[in-house]
Amino acid sequence: MELTNITGLKGEVSVPGDKSISHRCIMFGSIAKGITEIHHFLEGADCLATIDCFRKLGIEIEQNQHTITVHGNGLRGLAAPLEILNVGNSGTTTRLISGILCGQNFDSKLSGDESLNSRPMKRIMEPLTQMGANISSILRNDCAPLFITKGSLHGFQYDSPVASAQVKSCILLAGLYAEGETTVTEPCLSRDHTERMLREFGADLSITHHSVSIQACHELYGQKIVVPGDISSAAYFIAAGLLVPNSEILVKNTGINPTRAGILEVCQAMGADISIQNERMEGGEPVADILVRTSQLQGTTIEGDIIPTLIDELPVIAVMAAVANGTTIIRDAAELKVKETNRIETITDNLQAMGCDITPTSDGMIIKGGAPLHGAVIHTLLDHRIAMAFSIAALVAEGNTQILDSHCVDVSYPSFYDTFEELL
Ligand code: S3P
Repeated sequence: MELTNITGLKGEVSVPGDKSISHRCIMFGSIAKGITEIHHFLEGADCLATIDCFRKLGIEIEQNQHTITVHGNGLRGLAAPLEILNVGNSGTTTRLISGILCGQNFDSKLSGDESLNSRPMKRIMEPLTQMGANISSILRNDCAPLFITKGSLHGFQYDSPVASAQVKSCILLAGLYAEGETTVTEPCLSRDHTERMLREFGADLSITHHSVSIQACHELYGQKIVVPGDISSAAYFIAAGLLVPNSEILVKNTGINPTRAGILEVCQAMGADISIQNERMEGGEPVADILVRTSQLQGTTIEGDIIPTLIDELPVIAVMAAVANGTTIIRDAAELKVKETNRIETITDNLQAMGCDITPTSDGMIIKGGAPLHGAVIHTLLDHRIAMAFSIAALVAEGNTQILDSHCVDVSYPSFYDTFEELL
């Protein structure tokens, strides 16, 4: 994809459904009794991988133009897969489905692409093993491919060393099949979509501060779900509206769950002209429209408990920081190293290529913003969020930018480049 600088992005956009929520609808619908009807589902490659896995586990899932219908077979209604479960590029699919598969009385194997198969799985294998699960790394490198065979799960109390919704959700899903109560405590709160949605499906959950407990479950029940727009996708249009001269963009129907909406606080701290309008609740999740206008941003410090609430937005926040006046410091974000790429490296290398003064650190980066960016060849390494974040950088850089392997946006936002056309 070749991009160049522009001015005057104007109009309204609606971003696709939330990726985290879309995955969970399919998973919980598959192990619930009865029909789960999903509207505004994200048909990105990651969520399609989740559909594919549950079809291989014997679940009928219909995909119509606007609705996904999951014919759930109940908590113990999955069937042994006849082939390996292909999780593609999706960490969420891998970690959450592992929690479910550990509770089944059949064997399963799961594997993904090169990036997925190099991401850390010890973070789920260790606690699942402590619960009585049988899960192993086939290549003995603590990564996928994973082999899961029948175990006997018992509830336990897990103090997670990382604030990770994937780890938390994996343990809670295994907890549905475990005897007694299972509790996960996190160092700070990660996204809570699992807790919200499992409750809607009928699970018995109690939540205190940074701990969630779940009771062994008899049955979940199918639901009707309208998936809110993904704030992680909205983030690119928020950044574009703020950075591109003479712009005004209304991003409609965006999920603003406080465990996801850290980018809004950061925008405010950077002096952005941003307003949250028409706040409402939809399907147990807060939703709003977000209006942004071109702004001169200032550097800021981003650290501590806010990090899990904007972890996926840090690539585009780094781009905002590169254009802002002054220094932005990002700390406590070592989790960036274990995403689809090592994002401390991919952000640093690509921002440096565009002429930005950025220094990587062990848990983040220091960006001295304000110097003009120039066009460059962007090496996405097939990381969708790097492709989209640097597409925004390209809109404010002098000269042409080439985004290599830009098709990787299909992972979370297949129509990303088309949506931009609507704003020109
Ligand atoms: C996700 C949780 C986050 C996030 C990922 C989606 C989820 O990962 O980065 O894109 O849906 O639970 P971690 O839980 O590993 O932080």
